[in-house]
Order: sequence, then structure tokens, then C-alpha cells
Amino acid sequence: MTLNRLISRRQVLRTGAAFTAMSALSPARVAMAGPTEDPFVLRAAAGQAALRPAPYGPTNVWGYNGSVPGPEIRVRQGDRIRVLARNGLDEGTTVHWHGIRTPNAMDGVPFLTQDPIPVGGDLLYEFDAPDAGTFWYHPHQRSSEQVGRGLYGPLIVEEANPIRVDRDLTWMLDDWRMTGDGQIATDFGSRHDAAHGGRIGNSVTINGQIPERIAVRSGERIRLRLVNAANARIFGLDFGGLAPVVVALDGQPVAPHAPDGDVVLVGPAMRVDLVIDMTGKPGESVTVTDVFYRDLEYRLVDLAYEPDRLRDAVPDWSMALPPNPLAEPDMQAAKRHRIVFNGGMMGQMMMGGGMGSMLEQMREGNMWFINGEAATGHMMDPLLVLPQGTSHVLEMDNRTAWHHPMHLHGHSFRVIARNGQPTRHREWQDTVLMAPEERVEIAFVADNPGDWMFHCHILEHQAAGMMGVIRVDSGTTKT
Ligand code: C2O
Ligand code: CU
Repeated sequence: MTLNRLISRRQVLRTGAAFTAMSALSPARVAMAGPTEDPFVLRAAAGQAALRPAPYGPTNVWGYNGSVPGPEIRVRQGDRIRVLARNGLDEGTTVHWHGIRTPNAMDGVPFLTQDPIPVGGDLLYEFDAPDAGTFWYHPHQRSSEQVGRGLYGPLIVEEANPIRVDRDLTWMLDDWRMTGDGQIATDFGSRHDAAHGGRIGNSVTINGQIPERIAVRSGERIRLRLVNAANARIFGLDFGGLAPVVVALDGQPVAPHAPDGDVVLVGPAMRVDLVIDMTGKPGESVTVTDVFYRDLEYRLVDLAYEPDRLRDAVPDWSMALPPNPLAEPDMQAAKRHRIVFNGGMMGQMMMGGGMGSMLEQMREGNMWFINGEAATGHMMDPLLVLPQGTSHVLEMDNRTAWHHPMHLHGHSFRVIARNGQPTRHREWQDTVLMAPEERVEIAFVADNPGDWMFHCHILEHQAAGMMGVIRVDSGTTKT
């Protein structure tokens, strides 16, 4: 097991039992400027953040506008987002708007859709938000270290008519590998991480803080937007006696349902919107536990009921979100493509099925392969070229011993089958978690022209070759 570095919340907090105020747990919000006003400035730079409660000192991080997470960008569906990204780091960077169906040129992928923003430089990102939902932003340049040091923030697109709740909360979950003195361990790019489950840390934060308790009120209905900003950690949250209802996945509405096995699964880069009725009594508390890694369960946070009650009965307000304008794939006409994933420790390839060319590439430091190829260079030949407007099914075959959250840029896709069984909700996602040895089928309309990344969002897997490009060809796309 690779999680030997995980220490429990109790150990992390051995001395400080600080009560975390609600206000401190919300990132600063920004409203978007109108088209004629100045854009919102988002500056990436080194700084410090109080990840650990008092009396511990701050941690050196890289953050946006001096905070981790960066400011919450919050707009209404259909609004134009205009952000001037400034690079205050000592190396090039970009901003990728994860899950937003932007025009290709605004996608923030270095050497594919833009050059990195140079040190001291800036770049205006400008695009509309076609879908309401929970999204996020992060660099796409040397992501393992840039995201791993704290560069990320929430991007919330509100529905024109949101569902009724008492509070709308965002929890950006992150996992840090901290040294004993509370600084970020500098072993980025470790081959061991790359060949196993990625850079798993030992300290989990919610909105940039190791939380102890969060106040709730009896009878309150909360919309909780979970965003997994960790490089590699998968969360499986158990809300104790509460009954969370999943209402959106990766920003896209889904038929409201209880999570499988009552555990809310959130792989890296994925988002889950929950509606939770706080059914406990004043003065009680309920523990949220992360149970994903067996024998390494830990208490994430306690939800503590305030002494007064908000209401007596569970409200009967609808939880169904209005659908976003996504093109429905034509399943009769859809073209099927097989995509096989190999690599990593303990996979079939290691166990004797190894093919010469992959073993050769492994000697060069590549660990993961999509259809036999590890992507390394800056320029990549497309894995697939799809004519714009056509429907496709990707039959993804995970022949590895590891989970992989596979992300496609510029599109949302329906997850239609797992191991040959149709999925119950045919959920729209932009990042789908494949379990070890699992086969997952996704379907989508290739309707957004350009060259789009398709990669594992365990950032160390991505860096070790687990990425490719899918080209949506408008007929005029230059090659
Ligand atoms: Cu969240 Cu290719 O990125
Ligand atoms: Cu992976």
C-alpha cells in the first residue's frame, strides 16, 4: 500500500483543537466585470497560507491572489468570463478552466492551445460560461508541482433559477504532502509516485484549512459543492447519519440519487454537488469520514449543530437542477473507438504481458500508455481525429492495477456503461474515474472544434505519459 505516509487527522491536530469559523472557510468571491470594464486580475505567485490551525505557523505555497484556494469566480450561466492572468511565478504558467466548454484557444494548455505565460507576463482569458454548475481553474503547465503547491480555485456558474437551499457551500478538497515542520515536501516528480497512485499526501484541507468543526443548523438544507483539487488522492466521503443526495456530477445535473453504498466518491478533478438536510438535533455533531483507502480511514471534519434550530421538518423543495445545453450523442450513428490503458506497477504489462515498445519507453521514464504510446513531448499527434458534429463512443479498457480519473477537455460526455453494464444515470461527466481493470464506455458529440487534451488527472500519471490529444476537426482546422 502506498499510503504509509498518511497520518490521521488526530495526529495532525494533536495540539490545536481550533474551532474553524464558517467565514474563514469560504474563499473570497469575485463578481465578473461587464464586457467594457476591466477584467478580473488573477495573479499566480509564491506566498504563505495558514493551512494548519494555530499555533502552527504558515506554509509556503504558490497561490492565486495570495490565497489557497484562489478567489471563487462566480458568474451566472451565459455570462462572459474575463480574467487577466498574471504570472508572478519564477516559471511559465497557464490557466485551464476545468470542465468549462471554452473555445479551444482559451483552454490553457501549453504548447497545444497557447504558449506558457512567461515570467512577469500576462494573458487575457475571455469566454462564455455555457453550462451552469461547479467548475474550477488551475494551471496546466507542470501541473503536478504548480497545482500541488496550491494553484487552484473554484469557478461557480449559477443557474438562472437555482434550486432552493438555505446555504450554498463549496468545499475544495486538497491533499498535501507536508514535512514535519509543516512545509510542502519538495519531492515532486518522484518515479515511485508516478508508477503507483500518484503523489498522495498526509494532510487534507477543506478550502485551504485543516478543519476541525464546521457549524450547521438543525433543519438546514445545504447545497455542498465538492471539488477535488488533490494531485492524486481519491475521496470517499461518508456523512455518518446524514443522507446526502447527489444532484450534479462535474457540474452537470443528474437525477437526484443517493450515492452508491452511501459513500460520495470524488476522484481528482471531479466535482459532486450534494443536497444535504441537516436532520440532527441542536448540540449534536456528525462526523464526515473519508473511507476511500481501506484501513486508512480518517475523520475529515465534524459538522456541529448550533444551539438553535432553523426548522422542524425536512423541506419538500425540489432538488432537480435544470439541464445544461449539451448535445445528445446519436447512439445509432456513434462510431466506437477502443482505448487501452497500460502501465504502472503490478499491471498486466508488468506481469509478463509486456510489449517491447512499451518496455522501451519505460526505460525513458514513461510509466503509462494509451494505446501503447506514452505522451511526453510538447507536440502530440492526435490519438483520434473526429469530424465536428459526429457522435462517438470511447470504449476505455483499464488494464492497470490503479484507478485513473480520465479527463477530456472541451466536452462533457455521458458515462454509458461500466464492465458492459449500462449505468443507471447515464451521467454527464468531464472526468470519469476508472477502477483497476475496469472497462468504461463514454459517449459524446464532438462538437467543439480544436485539439483537446485527454488525460489522467492523477497529475503524476499525466506527467509520466498518460495523456493524448483528441482532435475535433471542423474541416478548416489547420494541422
Ligand atoms: Cu483539470 Cu487537463 O485538466
Ligand atoms: Cu492515472
